[in-house]
Amino acid sequence: MKILITGARGMLGQDLCSLLEKEHELIKYDREELDITNGKMVNKIVAKLNPDAIINCAAFTDVDGCEEKNKKALARKVNGTGPGNLAKISQKLKIPFFHYSTDYIFNGLKKDGYRESYSKIDPINAYGQTKALGEKLIKKNCKKYYILRTAWLYGKRGKNFVDTMLQLAKEHDTLKVVNDQHGKPTYTLDLAKRTKEILDKKLPFGIYHVTNEGQATWYDFAKEAFKIKGIKVKVLPCTTAEFPRPAKRPEYSALINTKMKAMRSWKKALAEYLAS
Ligand SMILES: NC(=O)c1ccc[n+]([C@@H]2O[C@H](COP(=O)([O-])OP(=O)(O)OC[C@H]3O[C@@H](n4cnc5c(N)ncnc54)[C@H](OP(=O)(O)O)[C@@H]3O)[C@@H](O)[C@H]2O)c1
Repeated sequence: MKILITGARGMLGQDLCSLLEKEHELIKYDREELDITNGKMVNKIVAKLNPDAIINCAAFTDVDGCEEKNKKALARKVNGTGPGNLAKISQKLKIPFFHYSTDYIFNGLKKDGYRESYSKIDPINAYGQTKALGEKLIKKNCKKYYILRTAWLYGKRGKNFVDTMLQLAKEHDTLKVVNDQHGKPTYTLDLAKRTKEILDKKLPFGIYHVTNEGQATWYDFAKEAFKIKGIKVKVLPCTTAEFPRPAKRPEYSALINTKMKAMRSWKKALAEYLAS
């Protein structure tokens, strides 16, 4: 297949390209080649490329940045209207459109997690609001969509929580890490593999929850990374209130996958990431 990847130089985009380019013809575009917020250019460029599918990895992912007054409008364009533009051209070309969304579209009050069918989208921060808008515009503008909701991403080709913790451990003897937010850490390589599976098997269109299995807090996540690496640093659990950030975070945001085989555990995925 000829596949257009937007946001191809991001953390997920790069892993996805490495995986897919063995079997598919890829057009790897990032902001310089195709700014997804520019509806006219999207129509013109994508129509000319005439791909068989579009996979959108472009996003504004700075969760705290989204709260800043001067960045709000841009975040809304990149995460909201941009995916809407791609959905429209996908519909015109009658091709499948893949997009990534987030656990942060939910309010985090549901302790037993969120299934794909759960419909109460209720973001508690600006990033979640922009991503919820993206989902809405995709559903409105195209039929052949795959929305893959994921969470707590880390990967080799981007700034992420794991690398930040390893760096902090070099600089401090004791670290305080938040222990009252619960989610599902997910390795970008596993998300890329699942995307390929959905694409290759032509699974039914719709919403998919794609995360590694098992829940963790940021404290659990950091502790496990230090354990795997044999790093001796004192890690103390703390509350969100002790570590205030501009954006509110959901307390419980586990995404439940009811459509596909469970992915491997987050601990196994993390061990592979840290060994590589
Ligand atoms: N990271 C997470 O923890 C997480 C959690 C849940 C869901 N997700 C979702 O997963 C997807 C992939 O995330 P990621 O962490 O791989 O993102 P990322 O590393 O931030 O990459 C996003 C890419 O999109 C590009 N981009 C930004 N604005 C653009 C525009 N207007 N037109 C075209 N490209 C643009 C960025 O370029 P610049 O670098 O130049 O801005 C960057 O290369 C996103 O949809 C994200 O919302 C991420």
